Amino acid sequence: MLDLYAVIGNPVSHSKSPLIHTAFAQQTNQSMQYDARLAPLDGFMLAVENFRQQGGKGLNITVPFKLEAHDLSTHLTERAKIAQAVNTLKFENDEILGDNTDGTGLIRDIGSNLGLSITAKRILLLGAGGASRGVILPLLQQNPALLVIANRTPHKAKALQQQFISHGHIVAGDFMAFSDEKFDIIINATSTSLHNTLPEISASVFSHAELVYDMMYSRELTGFLKFAQQNGAQQLADGIGMLVEQAAESFFIWRGINPQTKPVITMLKSHMLNQS
Ligand code: ATR
Repeated sequence: MLDLYAVIGNPVSHSKSPLIHTAFAQQTNQSMQYDARLAPLDGFMLAVENFRQQGGKGLNITVPFKLEAHDLSTHLTERAKIAQAVNTLKFENDEILGDNTDGTGLIRDIGSNLGLSITAKRILLLGAGGASRGVILPLLQQNPALLVIANRTPHKAKALQQQFISHGHIVAGDFMAFSDEKFDIIINATSTSLHNTLPEISASVFSHAELVYDMMYSRELTGFLKFAQQNGAQQLADGIGMLVEQAAESFFIWRGINPQTKPVITMLKSHMLNQS
């Protein structure tokens, strides 16, 4: 009998998680099966219940169910509580453990895969939605010199600043408030790359950036990364590394084993290039 895992979302057919976890399972000789399940927008709870009744051991949760997964959990890790969102569920007897591995995924990608330290750097984080919220505390825990949260709707950025103010040097505002400042690392956590638009930030913020990171990914460079490249960014990265690293942390939660991520990142990049 194979242990059963899945990702639930809507839509979900684009998800790379089955590919990633199947590669991890092969690499570490785990007897497990991982597939993708589409839940109706009003049918998340039922989909989880059905999965548990089939003997399912754990789930990844993607858009738009991360908040519902948070509310469903009987135990939450500290990082899931702070993110107010859950991307990993683990079922044990009657318990449902809810965790969030996104922040760890980003930090590991920047630190281990891209080889950059966040400590003492000036960081600009664009966006104040769920994707941004989940990475603020992990970023502050690396002791940056400054974390700026900039958002189209500034009051959302200011609310996040208030929530995390006791954890480090954090300021917030709209995109233009920081247009004359220089940053070492700029992270796009808005959903603009999904819609082929750009956050309206000044081109000059990129001129000193050693890394510009887009949490989104696509077959080609995202529009945001192209914009950064044209305006002086030294190194560019999309969200593929973060995706694989957050998956590795979920895999660890379920199986107690740390899979190797670099070969899987390489495999995923070539898989995406070969997709028509
Ligand atoms: P998620 O949970 O995936 O982060 P979200 O909560 O809808 O999604 O947040 C999306 C983020 O992208 C928000 O910061 C949003 O800005 P607003 O708070 O002003 O809505 C940002 N965003 C979406 N479209 C944008 C656009 N065209 N320009 C700038 N920011 C945009």
